[in-house]
Amino acid sequence: MRGHDLFRYAALLAVVLCYVTIILGGNVITTDNGLACPDWPTCFGNGNFFPAFTGGAAVEWAHRVSAFVLSVGVLGLAVLAVAFERGRRALLRLSLGALALVVTEALLGGVVIETSLLAGVVLLHLAIATVLFGILLIVALLANLRDVPRRWVDWARRAAEEDPAVAARAAAAREAAPVGPRPADRSVPGVTSREG
Ligand code: HEM
Repeated sequence: MRGHDLFRYAALLAVVLCYVTIILGGNVITTDNGLACPDWPTCFGNGNFFPAFTGGAAVEWAHRVSAFVLSVGVLGLAVLAVAFERGRRALLRLSLGALALVVTEALLGGVVIETSLLAGVVLLHLAIATVLFGILLIVALLANLRDVPRRWVDWARRAAEEDPAVAARAAAAREAAPVGPRPADRSVPGVTSREG
């Protein structure tokens, strides 16, 4: 497998991992298990990295484990970018940016817990997660653009362009509209109107 292919598959994998981590983070909040592991990076201190996988600790730990796997995935993506994508500067920069964000996010996860779920910190945690997801999505899209099936490209072009039939109908309606009284003069004294 060529380096470019490795990179584009890694980018897709990173998007999936980030999505799963975000869903599991939401699960922590909605089940109110944010402090089920009351410390970080261990769970219940004393070097205990692997709590009994039951109840709230399982919910919280699943999010931490997926965050760890995501971090390793994004690190791998950045390494692949440095190795194979130096010619595509935007991909390289975005991948390194994603690495910086995922490290910040993992550390912030610790702050979320140490501050006993302070609302502002949790919000920042969510904000960084969504920016990270967006960046990974752009990297995956750009990295795979050359291999996107033709019909998808055609669909995207059609979606972005105005429907010619609708545009023509709107133009015809404007042409046919009766010319009414001119709108009230809103010109600013001293400024010449372009309409004359
Ligand atoms: C590195 C990637 C990570 C991502 C993308 C991520 C993402 C998220 C998201 C999206 C939420 C839900 C926020 C909301 O719905 O408002 C969340 C919640 C949470 N995350 Fe993370 N997280 C990551 C890492 C971590 C780590 C490493 C920890 C802890 C060690 C952690 C601890 C928490 C906690 C405790 C909550 C729940 C907060 C509460 O109950 O109020 N996160 N995370």
